[in-house]
Amino acid sequence: MSSAPKAAPARVDQFFTGAETRFDRWRSLLQAARAWEGAASQQRPENEKCQAVVSASVAELGQWEDFFAYPGQALLKTLDERIASGDAGGTARLVQSLSAALLTHSYRTNLAEWEGEEQSRIGLAERVPGAGEETAPHRPYFEVLVVSPARPAAWSELAQELRKLRRPQDKFIYEPVFVGSFEDAVLATILNGSLEAVMIYEGIPFASSHHSPVLREVLTSHLAASGIDANSGQYGLALAEGLKQLRPELDIYFLSDREVEKVAGDTSAACVRRVFYQVEEPLELHLSILDGIGDRYDTPYFDNLQKYAQRPMGTFHALPIARGKSIFKSNWIQDMGHFYGLNLFLAESSATTGGLDSLLEPTGNIKVAQEKAARAFGADHVFFVTNGTSTSNKMVEQALLAPGDIMLVDRNCHKSHHYGGVLAGAFPLYVEAYPLTQYSMYGAVPLRTIKKALLDLKTEGKLDRARLLVLTNCTFDGHIYNVERVMEECLAIKPDLIFLWDEAWFGFARWSPFYRRRTAMGAAAILERKFKDPAYHQAYREQEKKLGANPSDKVLLETRLLANPDKVRLRVYQTNSTHKSMSCLRQGSMVLVKDPDYHTVAEQFHEAVFTHASTSPNLQIIASLDVARRQMELEGYELVNRAIQLALDVRREVNSHLLVSKYFHVLGADEMIPAEFRNSGFIDYLTTGMNWAKVVAALREDEFALDVTRLTLVCGSAGFDGTQFKNMLAADYDIQLNKTSRNSVLLQTNINNTRSDIAQLIKVLVEISQGIEKRLADGGSAAQQAFAARVKSLMTDVPNLPNFTCFFSCFREGTSSITSEGDMRSAFFAAYREKQCEHINLFSPEVDKRLKDGPELVSANFVIPYPPGFPIMVPGQVIDVETIGFMRKLDVKEIHGYSAALGLKLLNPAFLKSEKPLSSGFANAPKTAKRKSAAAD
Ligand SMILES: Cc1ncc(COP(=O)(O)O)c(C=O)c1O
Repeated sequence: MSSAPKAAPARVDQFFTGAETRFDRWRSLLQAARAWEGAASQQRPENEKCQAVVSASVAELGQWEDFFAYPGQALLKTLDERIASGDAGGTARLVQSLSAALLTHSYRTNLAEWEGEEQSRIGLAERVPGAGEETAPHRPYFEVLVVSPARPAAWSELAQELRKLRRPQDKFIYEPVFVGSFEDAVLATILNGSLEAVMIYEGIPFASSHHSPVLREVLTSHLAASGIDANSGQYGLALAEGLKQLRPELDIYFLSDREVEKVAGDTSAACVRRVFYQVEEPLELHLSILDGIGDRYDTPYFDNLQKYAQRPMGTFHALPIARGKSIFKSNWIQDMGHFYGLNLFLAESSATTGGLDSLLEPTGNIKVAQEKAARAFGADHVFFVTNGTSTSNKMVEQALLAPGDIMLVDRNCHKSHHYGGVLAGAFPLYVEAYPLTQYSMYGAVPLRTIKKALLDLKTEGKLDRARLLVLTNCTFDGHIYNVERVMEECLAIKPDLIFLWDEAWFGFARWSPFYRRRTAMGAAAILERKFKDPAYHQAYREQEKKLGANPSDKVLLETRLLANPDKVRLRVYQTNSTHKSMSCLRQGSMVLVKDPDYHTVAEQFHEAVFTHASTSPNLQIIASLDVARRQMELEGYELVNRAIQLALDVRREVNSHLLVSKYFHVLGADEMIPAEFRNSGFIDYLTTGMNWAKVVAALREDEFALDVTRLTLVCGSAGFDGTQFKNMLAADYDIQLNKTSRNSVLLQTNINNTRSDIAQLIKVLVEISQGIEKRLADGGSAAQQAFAARVKSLMTDVPNLPNFTCFFSCFREGTSSITSEGDMRSAFFAAYREKQCEHINLFSPEVDKRLKDGPELVSANFVIPYPPGFPIMVPGQVIDVETIGFMRKLDVKEIHGYSAALGLKLLNPAFLKSEKPLSSGFANAPKTAKRKSAAAD
C-alpha cells in the first residue's frame, strides 16, 4: 500500500470557485483512477505511483466532501478501502459512478446512486433517501446542516435517527450533513448550495480542522467586533445570526439543553425559526423542517391557477383564447395550440374570482404571493407588475412625486424615469455619471455630485422640494453603487429624502452574500440596524460637535457624513425586472417597498397602480413571478453563485487566451471604475493574490464596484463596432448578446447559463480570432493597414459624451439658479402643437449659425440613440455644440425621437419668446428663496 505524497493542504475557503472546483476535482480524480486502472498490469513502481496519485486526490477531495451529504462518509470509505486494497478497476468504476451522479444531480432522485455501483454493499432501506418508496411521486431533495458538538463517530447514528422519521406523505426528502465547529458550519453554508435548513446544537467549538485561513481571519475579527470570545463555546446564536446574514432564506433551528425558554427570549434568537429542548420531540423537529421548506415551496397564485386550469369551466367572458377551443378546433391556427400546449389556454382567464384574485386590488392568493415575495426580498411590501419595470418606475414616480417636486436623477437612467418625471410634472435635476468616453458609455453618479446637488438646492432654498433620488443599481454596464453610503450621506443632508433604486438588472443580487449589502433592500436593512445602534448615535453626536453649527458646503462634501438617527426617515423603493434575472416570463417586474411612512402614500400608490396597470393583466406572468420567488428562495444562492463563477471563467479565459486576447478583452473593474472610487485598492477580481475577503472589503468600502456577471467585451480592437459584432454573433453563431457600444458589446451570465455556453462562446471567439489572423496574413500590408486604421477609428476617434446643458429659460425658475432642474413637462406638451415646433436638418449650416449667434436651439422631445441608450436631448433642453458634435458623429441607425429625413425637432423661437419665464406657479412649488452665495466646490 502506498501513502499519499505530502502537499500543501487545499484551501477550502475559495468561495468564488467552490462549486465548480469540486466537480473539476472529481473529474481529475476520475482521470487519475483511469490512469491507475490502465497501469495496473504494468511494473510495480508505475502502478504504485498511480495509486499514490489517486490516494492523494481523494484525500484532497475529502476536504470538500465533508460538507455534502452525497457521496457521504460510507461511499468515501468504500473508495478508500478499494484504493488501499489495490483494486484499481473497482476504484475507477466507483469514481466514475460517483462523479457522474454529482454532475447530473441524479443522486437526488435515483436511489441506486447512493449504493455506488454495487447495489448490495449497503443496506438500501437504511441508507437511501426515500428508500422503499420508489413508486412515490417526485419529492424535491435538499440537505440539512447539523451543527453538533457530538463526536463524529456518533453522527451516523444521529443521521439514522433522522432518517427513521421519514414518512411516505412527506412532500420533500432531506439528508443531514454533519459538522462539528463554528467555522465548519460557515464553510458548509457557503459551499453547499443544497442546504435549506440548519440545526444548531449548543456547545460547539470554534475552529475547523479544514484549511481555511482567509475565513478564519474574517470570522475571528467579526466575532471580536461583536464582542464574542472565540473560545467561549457560547456562540450558537451568533452562529445563527451569521448564517442568516449569509443566506437569509435558510430556516434555522436551535437545540439547547439549558433553559430553552431563556434562549427563545433572547433578542438574537429572532432569526431562529424554532427553539427545541434537545432531547425532546424529534418528530416535531422533522415536521418543522418540512414545514419551513413547504412555506418557501408554496406558490399560492401558481398553485391555484393550476387548480383552476383543471376545472371544467364554461366561459362567457371576453377572452376567446381561454380553454383553447377556438384554437384546437380551428382549421387554420391549430399549430399555435400545439406549439404552446393546452395548459397555457386552460390557464387563461379574465376572472378575478374563483380563487384567481385581482392584481389591482389583491385580497387573496396574489396578496399572499406578494407577501411571500416581500419576505424573500427583505421588503415591507411587494407589488407584482405585469408590464415591465418601465411601468414599475412610472408607478413609483407618480405615487411619490407631485408637480413641482424636484427629482434628482441620473441622466443616464432608463427612459421610463424621464417619462415618469414628465407624467408627474416633477422637475428633474439631472446628476451626471462619470463618463467612460473611450467605450462610449457612462459609469455611475459620484456621491460627491449628488451631495453637491443637494447642497446647492439648500443654498437655493429648494431643498424641501427635493423629494426623490433615482439611481440605477447596477447600471446597464455593471456599476454597483455603495447603496448604504449614498443613502446615509444623503439623509445627513436631507433626512426625509426618498430613494428609488432601479435594480432592473440586479434583482438576483439578493441571493449573493457578496452583493446583498449593495442592493436597496440589503443596504436598507444595514442602515436600519445602524440607526438603532447606540454606538451610531454617539458617533453622530461627535461628528455633529466636530462639524459645528454651520459647516461649509466644502466641509460637508469632504466629510463622510453620518445621518441624524433621531431624524431620519429611511424610505426606500426598489424596482426590478424579475424577468431579466430570474425565471420569470417577459415583463414580470416587482416594486419593493421598505418605507416606515408608506401609509402616508399608500393611497396615491394605489392610484398609480390604477393609472398604469392593465385591467387585463397576464395571469401567466403573475404566476411566474410567484414561481420565480419560490426558485430563488430555494436555489437562488446556488444559481447565482454559478452565474458569478461562469462570468469569472469568461473573464479569465478571454483575457488569458493567447490568440483571443490579441483581439478581444473583457474590461476589468479597474478599467470600468476610476481609481478614485476604489479606495480599498481593489483592482480586479482576477488579479494575483485576490481572495474573497478582499472582495468583501472592497464591496464594503469602495464607492463603486463592478458586477462580474456583466461583461464588457471590447471588440473594436478586433476591427468590429459593437452593432456589427452583435449582428455577426447572432447571424453566424446563434449567440445573442445584451447591448452594444461603439467598440464593445455587453455579455451577461445569469442563472440560466451553463459551462457549455461558456465553452461555446470561447470557441467562437477563437474562430473569429483565427479568421482575423488569416485575413491579415493573406491580405498583406494593405489589409494590415486597413485593419489598423479601422481599429484606431473605433478605439481612439471616439466622440466626447455631451453633458446635460440646461433647460431653456422659460422652463426654469430664474436663470441665475445654480441648480438646473426644470419644468420638462411643459416643454414636452408644448411640442404637441405643430405650430410651436420647427425642424432643422442636423447637418445644415443653419444649425451652426444658430449655435453661434442664436436664437438658441431648444429640443422639443427626447432624443435617445441606441447605443448608448440615454437621452442626449430632453424636452426643453438647450442644445449646445457638444451635443450637435456627438449627434453628427453618431453612426448608429436607431435614434429614438430623431428622424434624419425631417431633422432635429425643436421648439421654435417665436413660441419660446412668447412664453413667460416660469414663475413659481406650480401648485406645490414654494417660492424659491433668494439665491445665497454659490456653494463651495
Ligand atoms: C435600468 C433599467 N430600468 C428599467 C428598464 C425597463 O425594464 P423592463 O424591460 O422590464 O420594462 C430597463 C430596461 O432595459 C433598464 O435597463
